[in-house]
Amino acid sequence: MNYSIAIDGPAGAGKSTIAKLIAKKKSYIYVDTGAMYRAMALFFIESGISADEQEKISAACKDVDVTISYENGEQIVWLNGRNVNGLIRTEEVGKMASASSANKDVREKLVELQRALAEKESVVMDGRDIGTVVLPNADVKVYLTASSRVRAVRRYEELKAKGEECNLEVIEKDIIERDYRDMHRDISPLKQAEDAVLLDSSNMTIEEVADAVIAMCK
Ligand code: DC
Repeated sequence: MNYSIAIDGPAGAGKSTIAKLIAKKKSYIYVDTGAMYRAMALFFIESGISADEQEKISAACKDVDVTISYENGEQIVWLNGRNVNGLIRTEEVGKMASASSANKDVREKLVELQRALAEKESVVMDGRDIGTVVLPNADVKVYLTASSRVRAVRRYEELKAKGEECNLEVIEKDIIERDYRDMHRDISPLKQAEDAVLLDSSNMTIEEVADAVIAMCK
């Protein structure tokens, strides 16, 4: 019998950190669905397609093959047979992923892949529509959020640690814009599933959030 834990929420709420920790504690597979949208976005960028060219994005879907594999518990995303893990974490790819993930054909392709993974294994899956659309019968559903300021500060500190130039106000503005796009698109917008538990991580440590989710599994 396979179990599934769905973790949805806006960018920077800590979904992937929490999901990875829980997957490790419970020996489940961690499925990062955002990485799949990012891989497709990278393909569109490399093909010279811009975010507002929805018809070209739809047409290009037939040329994209996204798959994932695992190495020492780490998810590897393959784009047409190429490992793109090192290329998808940029702001440019994140913005394109937010825009192209509003496309029906992009979503159909990836939702199918995500459901197939959850059928084969017990999973902790994070994204925007896992509890609402991808796995409506997930055993545990969490909607993880945090204030835009807290999320911006986390991102700012990440970038600073990498030695990148950044500005807190710009980062917060980008986060608010991305939230708006993800929450207001027509297909599978980001929202809390009716049966999801809301967790606000603004004033919680990673361990506290993970413990709260583990407690829900019992
Ligand atoms: O979680 P992330 O930042 O890696 O996600 C990148 C974008 O992909 C995000 O802005 C919205 C989209 N996305 C989505 O629409 N549905 C998902 N299940 C996961 C991500």
